[in-house]
Amino acid sequence: MKSKNAEKFTDYYRQRRVTGTYDAQREGNKYRKIKRAVELKYFLELIDKQNEDRVLELGCSSGFLTKHLGKVTAIDTSEGMLEITKKKNPLATCVAGDMFSMPFKEGRFNKVVTMRVWNHLDESDLKRAIRESKRVLKNNGYLIFDAEEKSFLRRFIGFFYQRIFRTTGYKIYQYSLKDLKRILGSEGFKIEKVKIINHRIGRQILMRNKLVEK
Ligand SMILES: C[S@@+](CC[C@H](N)C(=O)[O-])C[C@H]1O[C@@H](n2cnc3c(N)ncnc32)[C@H](O)[C@@H]1O
Repeated sequence: MKSKNAEKFTDYYRQRRVTGTYDAQREGNKYRKIKRAVELKYFLELIDKQNEDRVLELGCSSGFLTKHLGKVTAIDTSEGMLEITKKKNPLATCVAGDMFSMPFKEGRFNKVVTMRVWNHLDESDLKRAIRESKRVLKNNGYLIFDAEEKSFLRRFIGFFYQRIFRTTGYKIYQYSLKDLKRILGSEGFKIEKVKIINHRIGRQILMRNKLVEK
């Protein structure tokens, strides 16, 4: 069963006020716009979508990445977000559902991608989400995701920001590359590519992992 924090995370994004303002909030200033553009570029490189690929995106939100993926299946728990995504990418199959228990058959996809979603999961939730992704992935398929790298300063600032502004109510979790290697290895994935993005404070780890042992 997923944690209370994961439920809070889901509930937060179901609110209409959040859905309606998400894009403006995410790209509301020059710094954020550039940050998103850099992340997008690296994600697209790591996904390296080919014509025959069956790609699944988890937590697509308002379609920031989805709109660049052409034919893709995108899942999110927020129906409001999915409506926006569908407008941005009419080729996308948008599915309302939970990434911890997906309405897809085993081995249906050869690439599963998720951007800026799993950094809201603690280790138990992260493992659950990885296992469910593994279930719907074919053997030798790819799992592409990002994580916030462990950084005391970033955690410290984030903690006060949340305390003062009470922005979301759910947490952000950080991982070292070593943590991710251990978690992915125990689930049968081999890290194939890693990209590190330096932000003003802290770094974001982007990775492409191959399922070698289903
Ligand atoms: C921080 S947003 C990130 C979205 C997007 N990938 C981006 O980079 O703009 C997180 C998204 O995950 C979705 N979400 C939360 N819990 C989920 C769950 N259990 N299953 C699927 N999606 C979920 C939310 O509705 C929200 O749209």
